[in-house]
Amino acid sequence: MRAVGLYKSKPGVALGDIPKPTIQRKTEVLVRILSTAIDGSDFSLVKNHLVEPPQNEEFMALGHECVGVVEAIGSDVKKLKVGDYVVPTVRRGCGLCPACQENMSDYCYTGLYKEHGLHFLHGFLTEYTVAQEKYLVAVEQNDLPIAVWVEPASIVVKAFDQMLRIQQRVPSACSHLEHNWDKQDWPGCKRALVLGAGPLGFLAVAWLRSYGIDTYVLEVVSRDALKIQMVKEMGARYVDGRNFGPKKIMEGIGHVDVIFEATGASDVALSFIEMMSRNSVYLLMGVPRAAENNVCFDANSMLRHIVRQNQVILGSVNSNAEHFRRATEFVRRANAQFDHILERAITHRFTLEQYEQAFDRRDDRLKVVFDISKS
Ligand code: BGC
Ligand code: ZN
Repeated sequence: MRAVGLYKSKPGVALGDIPKPTIQRKTEVLVRILSTAIDGSDFSLVKNHLVEPPQNEEFMALGHECVGVVEAIGSDVKKLKVGDYVVPTVRRGCGLCPACQENMSDYCYTGLYKEHGLHFLHGFLTEYTVAQEKYLVAVEQNDLPIAVWVEPASIVVKAFDQMLRIQQRVPSACSHLEHNWDKQDWPGCKRALVLGAGPLGFLAVAWLRSYGIDTYVLEVVSRDALKIQMVKEMGARYVDGRNFGPKKIMEGIGHVDVIFEATGASDVALSFIEMMSRNSVYLLMGVPRAAENNVCFDANSMLRHIVRQNQVILGSVNSNAEHFRRATEFVRRANAQFDHILERAITHRFTLEQYEQAFDRRDDRLKVVFDISKS
């Protein structure tokens, strides 16, 4: 079957041919892929020619954000039926460590996991995939137009979930007891800064604004850019990073409870550590994949700042089926609340054959989706 991905032997994205997978175990499900979105990770694998194909193969299909329809089921599949719509999770655990055994392979201890479209497993920029039922999250037909957002949304849900747990260590920075982090009304008087308004930053803004949190977004593009228009539409405020340095920016904003870093640019990410407010959390989400990048910092000052101000710098990667289930609720809620914004943010759609155009990043794009069923 056709697949868009990377060859080990030559740089650049290509159209390849891989065998159609078949059900091997009774708990497995055959999924026909309908749409697959691409994100910063895909671009970065292409750009840096990082290819880890399945064992003994030369080519790996890219893509880890998709929605499909169940076409066949093994005899031990319990809930899913033929015709159900599903979103597959990305990581397949090592099977050895406690996290993977508890269906939390996103916290795998051994590092021996595989990931569809990223590490050692074919991705979803192809026609079919096979997965065990426990790795497939059901979505309703009504949610099909936004279902490709579920995977990246699960990343956002997981990160903010950790923030909420961590912040229960302190009272809210305001003096309202009802705004404490363990209370229903915790979003009150909270402020956030999102670095980067690509698809992940965009979803972080949607999450924060769906709770009414005062949200600032830092980017380095013109105010007229579509992604800036869209985050503003959700009520976030734009900070043009081309005009001010981190220090000036933070002075203008005041206390920030959480910074969500979604630029993947190490120098930007690092420059905001010393700008963190007291007792705050920094969610590091970008995965810088390019070769070395040595940056010079005053280490004493940075570490002193982190320690003296009780700061938490948290790295968060991947997500499990439970995050996907909560992400389906979140994308539905955000899309309804902000006038179909997640549908509108899918700005470009291509067939598999149009892979070159799809991976071209020139124009003003937000989410790029491949319509596999129409290819
Ligand atoms: C995916 C994660 C994955 C990570 C690996 C991200 O784009 O959303 O599921 O673990 O890439 O680097
Ligand atoms: Zn308050």
